Amino acid sequence: MLAIGGSTWLPVATAVAPTATGMLLSRPIPSSGEELPVIGLGSWVTFNVGNDRTARAGCTEVMRHFFAAGGRMIDSSPMYGSAQEVIGEALQQLGKPARLFAADKVWVGSGARGPEQIETSRRHWGVPSFDLLQVHNLLAWQDHLATLFAMKAAGRLRYVGITTSEGRRHADILQIMASQPIDFVQITYNILDREVEERILPLARERGIAVIANRPFRQGALIEALGRHRLPSWAAEIDCANWAQFLLKFIVSHPAITCAIPATSNVAHVRENMQAASGRLPDAALRRRMIAHALQLS
Ligand SMILES: NC(=O)c1ccc[n+]([C@@H]2O[C@H](COP(=O)([O-])OP(=O)(O)OC[C@H]3O[C@@H](n4cnc5c(N)ncnc54)[C@H](OP(=O)(O)O)[C@@H]3O)[C@@H](O)[C@H]2O)c1
Repeated sequence: MLAIGGSTWLPVATAVAPTATGMLLSRPIPSSGEELPVIGLGSWVTFNVGNDRTARAGCTEVMRHFFAAGGRMIDSSPMYGSAQEVIGEALQQLGKPARLFAADKVWVGSGARGPEQIETSRRHWGVPSFDLLQVHNLLAWQDHLATLFAMKAAGRLRYVGITTSEGRRHADILQIMASQPIDFVQITYNILDREVEERILPLARERGIAVIANRPFRQGALIEALGRHRLPSWAAEIDCANWAQFLLKFIVSHPAITCAIPATSNVAHVRENMQAASGRLPDAALRRRMIAHALQLS
């Protein structure tokens, strides 16, 4: 057993799942044991392309390559403009891939309007039901959690979660994690935004809550900053061929993280990102070196 940042560091417990292209690193959802690949797909901005036919076709191709590489979790929200409809159209064109893990959110100030919004989202996706619904940014969370727990009890939803980003409302996140039987929490975690290592990630392990890491690239800014520099030669020790894989492997090597959800509109990028779910992951010493290097270059 190793230690990092003052917290207990267990050996990275990765399991492998068979895929069309080989074996993907995956992690179990603590509340069920179901395995999820450690890389998912975000949809904020990148899939909000309106009615642009060319851009929509591009999103379908991104999803085609995501599924072909063994991907499962796609994350969206009613907040993301046309993203849900774009996902729904792509799923239809791709023949409704059975491996999809559909993660969406409820995001409305009125608890009473939650069910109607969820139903609209479900129709946009064209799925019979969602795997995971999350209260987006804790908006009206008491009311929406009651709705989501009732849906789960009725067999109309598999998992319940909450989200935040960029360090907002962490005290509330901790309080909900400690007091509510949620399955997932979604937070911002990347090589420079590591506040969650202090309390949220340890509590997730203690309470058996799956963790989704959003903003793995700080909406692209991290790749842009690091991309001005050459990838260090020692990145090859963990099978990284580019900065995207360096950043993603840092995130998913934390044992509390279930998956990271990079967003992209680019087929080459989704392929690169999915390759981060294979090969070696850094140990605690290498993670410290990665942090120091990223701090020095950014
Ligand atoms: N409160 C919340 O619930 C919340 C908040 C924030 C985010 N999220 C979720 O988390 C997801 C991810 O966060 P994010 O969208 O803020 O940003 P992100 O995933 O950190 O970064 C996305 C950006 O990185 C670029 N990119 C992706 N892969 C790349 C690669 N291999 N090489 C170079 N550039 C690459 C993309 O550009 P290209 O299109 O050119 O690839 C895009 O501009 C969101 O889409 C959303 O689903 C949730």
